[in-house]
Amino acid sequence: VQAHRFNAVVDASESGYGALVLDRLARHTCGVTEADAGGVIVLDRRDPEVAFAAAGCGIAIERTGERFPLEPGVLRDVIATARPKRLSGGVELERLTGDVRGPASGACVAMSWADEVRGAVWAAAVPGPAFDERRVELLGEMARLTATAIEHAENHQRLEASAETGVEALAAAIEMRDGYTGEHSADVVSLAVEVGRALRLDAPGLVELRCAARLHDVGKIGVPDGILRKPGPLTHDEWITMRRHAPDGSTLLARVPGLEAVAAIVRFHHERWDGAGYPDRLAAAQIPVASRIVAGCDAFRAMTADRPYRRAMTTDDALRELSRCAGTQFDAAVVDALARIVRAGAPVRGAGAG
Ligand SMILES: [Fe+2]
Ligand SMILES: [Fe+2]
Repeated sequence: VQAHRFNAVVDASESGYGALVLDRLARHTCGVTEADAGGVIVLDRRDPEVAFAAAGCGIAIERTGERFPLEPGVLRDVIATARPKRLSGGVELERLTGDVRGPASGACVAMSWADEVRGAVWAAAVPGPAFDERRVELLGEMARLTATAIEHAENHQRLEASAETGVEALAAAIEMRDGYTGEHSADVVSLAVEVGRALRLDAPGLVELRCAARLHDVGKIGVPDGILRKPGPLTHDEWITMRRHAPDGSTLLARVPGLEAVAAIVRFHHERWDGAGYPDRLAAAQIPVASRIVAGCDAFRAMTADRPYRRAMTTDDALRELSRCAGTQFDAAVVDALARIVRAGAPVRGAGAG
């Protein structure tokens, strides 16, 4: 039974959507933690002394697919104790990356599912200061998403079908809960995909972007009516509740097999380029590019829609506002592409004439 379970992981991570999800999660993990290398390691169920590099990013990518003995060291300790540990140069990183000029500092976090430690996620940067508490926490967040992805793959789910059904069901749920949020999300999709194309996202990246744009505000399902429909500015406490929609939406999406990478994008859709956003205060390239695209398109669509308490801004005014905030709130490359697309005459639903 154990051998069979391990093979399921190998199958899922070497073919089709399962592999793709792990790969994207490894890449997001590197970006979010500002790492130069990182990877996902899964234990061999047949032999607890052997580990398998299931996915990697940066220089660690070359080791993907390799099996290696679990020698005494940081990785073994993390797996034995289920506690995060720092990596600092030397043998351990050379072992993980397969590169002697490898990164100088990083961290390793255990990955558990089905009530057992089953592997680890690690990330490392070269050179730079040691991984601080915040980076380790972010690594833990990505380890949770990755563990969910592998658990789903192990359960032999038909990932693509589940993902599609999940997207449809959740989009319908948003629509039912709040008509404005439903319509707004649909409006963000077409613009986001065009911006994604302009920024040369690859095909799987565009699929993830489309889902993330459609479901970016799915966490608002859990925001009480009094706050969600309040016709006016929110109080400090109401804002705290409202802001939960980003991490809560991500948690919800991670429960749908195949949507773990989309869950990562949704978590970060209110981060700001200058690092003053929420929930994790990521900055610049740390923020997944799809999250940056959703952020810009979300703001543009929100500004150009009529609301009960204010009229829509004109397209020109909204574009001016976006470029005023390029480089602080928004990624300037996203704002540029968006402005070009809107000016070229992409249909701007919801844009008021003034
Ligand atoms: Fe949002
Ligand atoms: Fe939104």
